[in-house]
Amino acid sequence: MFDRNGNDNSNYNQMIVEEIRKVSPKVADLVEKEYLRQKNNVELIASENYCSEAVMAACGSCLSWKYAEGYPYVRTSGNKGRYYGGTEFVDQLEEYCCDLWRKVFNTDYHVNVQPHSGSQANFAAYKSVLEPGDTILGLNLDNGGHLTHGSAVNFSGKLYDVHFYDVDADGRIDMEDVKRKAEELKPKLILTGASAYSRIIDFAAFSEIAREAGAYFMVDMAHIAGLVAAGEHPSPFGYADIITTTTHKTLRGPRGGLIFCRPELHKKVDSAVFPYAQGGPLEHIIAGKAVCAEEAMKPEFKTYQHQVRLNCAALADEFTKMGYHVVTGGTDNHVFLLDLSDKEFTGKDLQVACDEHGITLNKNCVPNEKRSPMQTSGVRIGTAPMTTRGYLEDDFRKVAHRIDEIVKELDAKKAAEAAEAK
Ligand SMILES: Cc1ncc(COP(=O)(O)O)c(C=O)c1O
Repeated sequence: MFDRNGNDNSNYNQMIVEEIRKVSPKVADLVEKEYLRQKNNVELIASENYCSEAVMAACGSCLSWKYAEGYPYVRTSGNKGRYYGGTEFVDQLEEYCCDLWRKVFNTDYHVNVQPHSGSQANFAAYKSVLEPGDTILGLNLDNGGHLTHGSAVNFSGKLYDVHFYDVDADGRIDMEDVKRKAEELKPKLILTGASAYSRIIDFAAFSEIAREAGAYFMVDMAHIAGLVAAGEHPSPFGYADIITTTTHKTLRGPRGGLIFCRPELHKKVDSAVFPYAQGGPLEHIIAGKAVCAEEAMKPEFKTYQHQVRLNCAALADEFTKMGYHVVTGGTDNHVFLLDLSDKEFTGKDLQVACDEHGITLNKNCVPNEKRSPMQTSGVRIGTAPMTTRGYLEDDFRKVAHRIDEIVKELDAKKAAEAAEAK
C-alpha cells in the first residue's frame, strides 16, 4: 500500500508484475505503468480506493479456478444447492462471507455475496421484485443518481417505466417531491442512493413514503457503505426491503457487489442473481469480500471512515472559502461536487488539466446541468482513497489550493483564446 508520499511498504505489486512478465512483457509493462501512475498521483475519484494486499491476495488465489454455480445454503435432496462437485471449502467460505457481512451491518437481513458488480447487483435486485414495464421512482444521473437507476441508455431505463424525483435549489433531495410523485405514480419500487450526492439520505422518511405508496423501498448504498458500516452515515437496515452495494468504494474491498434483503425476499433475490443474471460465482472475489468484511469490523476502519468525512468537510470548506460553488454548500460524507457552471471551461477541461498536474478526478453533471454528459459543468471530488494513504485535513486544504491554481491557469487560457478570437 502506498503512503502519503507514494512510498510502497510492500513488494506485492512488483511481485505480480514480475510473474506476469514471464508470459507477457507487454501486459507487465502496462500494469507497471498504471502502478506508477497510481503511486505518483493524488487520487480524488470518489468511487475508487486502495484495498489491502490481503484482499488482493484473496482475489488472486486458487479460488479463481473453482466453479460453484448455485448456493451453499440451499439444501436440495440432502445436498447443498451447487451444480458442481468439490465445493466443500467454497461452500464454507461463502457461508462465512455472508455471516461476516451480516455482522458488519449488524443485521439479520439475508445477503447474497455473488453479484459480480454493483450494476449486476442492481439488475438482480430489480428483477427480484419487478416485471418489465413496472414503475420505479428514483434519482436521475444529473442529480447524483447512477446509470442503473433508470438512465435511458441503461437496461434500467429500457426495461422499466422510470420516473425521477428532484433536488431542491441547493441540490438536496426534495422529500416533498418524492412524496408527491410517490402518491401520484404509485410506483412498485422507490429507490434511493447515489454516485454523487454529498448529504445524509433520510432513509426513515423514504421508507414511510414507500409504505404509504405500497411500494418496495430499495437503497443502493454503493458509495456510502463504508460510512454506514462505521456508523458515519445512518443505516438503511430496518428501513429498506432491498439494499445493494459495491465493495470497492468506501468499503475498500475487491471490485464486486452485494445484495441484502428482508428474509422473506431471499428466494426471489437469490434466483435473480443465479440462474437469472449470472453463472458461476467468482469465489476468489468472494474470498476478497470476506477479507474486506473482516477489515471493516476492526476499530481502525471506524477511525478511517471518520477521517474520510473530516477530510471531505475540510476540502469542501477550503473551496468555499476561495469562492467556489460547492453543490449543497458542503458535505456530510466522502464526496462533493464543484459546480463550474459560471466558468468558460467545462468539467472535462478541468479533469484533463488536473490529469496533467498529477491529480485524478472526474467530470460530473451538476443539478440543472446545461452541458452534455461528455463535457459537464462540474467535477466530483472524493476523499476516500487519499485518506487510505494517510492524508489529513491540512493535506486536503493544500490539494484545494493546487486545484485552484489549475483553475486559474484554465481561466487565463480561456481569456487568451477569447482575446485572440476578437
Ligand atoms: C450508486 C452506484 N451504484 C452502482 C454502481 C455500479 O457499480 P459497478 O461499477 O460495480 O457496476 C455505482 C458505480 O459507480 C454507483 O456509484
